[in-house]
Amino acid sequence: MADRVEYSEEELLSSIAYDEPLIANRVRCHGGFVGGRYHSPRSAGRGPAIAAWQAQLRARGVPLIEIPPALVPPHHPNAAQAVLLLREGVRAPLVRTLTTIAIIEGFGAMIRDQRVPDLARCVREPVAGTATAHLASGLFEAHARDEAGHRSEGGHKQMWEAARDLALGNPAIPPDVLMRLMTGRRAGRGRQRLFPQLAEAFEELLAVMVNVLVIEVFAADTFRWAETVLGDAEVSSAPHEAAAMVGYIRSDETPHVEYLRTTLSELRACTLLGESGGEWRGAEVVDALLARTLRALTTERPRLQRQETHDDIAAALAEHRDAAGVQRRFDALDEPWSPPDWEGSPQRVLQA
Ligand SMILES: [Fe+2]
Ligand SMILES: [Fe+2]
Repeated sequence: MADRVEYSEEELLSSIAYDEPLIANRVRCHGGFVGGRYHSPRSAGRGPAIAAWQAQLRARGVPLIEIPPALVPPHHPNAAQAVLLLREGVRAPLVRTLTTIAIIEGFGAMIRDQRVPDLARCVREPVAGTATAHLASGLFEAHARDEAGHRSEGGHKQMWEAARDLALGNPAIPPDVLMRLMTGRRAGRGRQRLFPQLAEAFEELLAVMVNVLVIEVFAADTFRWAETVLGDAEVSSAPHEAAAMVGYIRSDETPHVEYLRTTLSELRACTLLGESGGEWRGAEVVDALLARTLRALTTERPRLQRQETHDDIAAALAEHRDAAGVQRRFDALDEPWSPPDWEGSPQRVLQA
């Protein structure tokens, strides 16, 4: 049974039986506890399925895509800087960051609307019994429910709000968080096509999965940062509960990273078919899309984020009686990070 590679949608969406549900700040959330240990939702079928699809790749000698940890930009401000600000009573920037994360998690529901074109026309090899074949029949839906919640059950959106409210004692939320998200630099920009010979819907599917994979991998680092900050007893009103909540979210993200890298590794090993003839090595296409996303998310995005954070902190500090002193101590805690060198071969960076 461990090697079974075909799963129904119902199986991929089913959860194990819990002794106790997860209640976050009075909201019933997904997941729950068995013997006191947290277990992620929708893992009863999805867990063994992903393991079986990965084992199948290993048996074929197909490598699983890895995003080198050295590529992950550290969160700014770092944990020590964030704790310094909280200790000084400067809370608005962190409240904004946590609220933004909660909203973005909620946007994760959009993955269920991702179209999967007829794969028999896009991929030469048959895909039955792979993660790729299960995207539209359970994997995207499970992912959407994890991020945004499902029916009366809260998901990551509600869990982040709970972590924020537990740690910072129900802080006032800046009124323009959503507005800035919708109108700012993160607002969607049209993606340029790199492989116009492939069916547009197929390239779009690959580009979206690559993008979400990289965002999920990078997010794990942000979540560790949040666990440290919200778990700091000096500045958090509920260090244990708040950090544990972020830890639950972080563990729920593991299947997202795993199914996405499994699917992309499967397609990387396939031959992709052009819409009107022609064939491309999956590796050529997936690696080019991956390099493009990684380049943007390790250069332009951290630079913009840093600028925005700098402005928010400066604005919040304006009311502090020792703004210059706090800013000086803040700057002294900075740990410079430089993006990888993307000139030349992206392949070299990916394999670093
Ligand atoms: Fe999430
Ligand atoms: Fe996720």
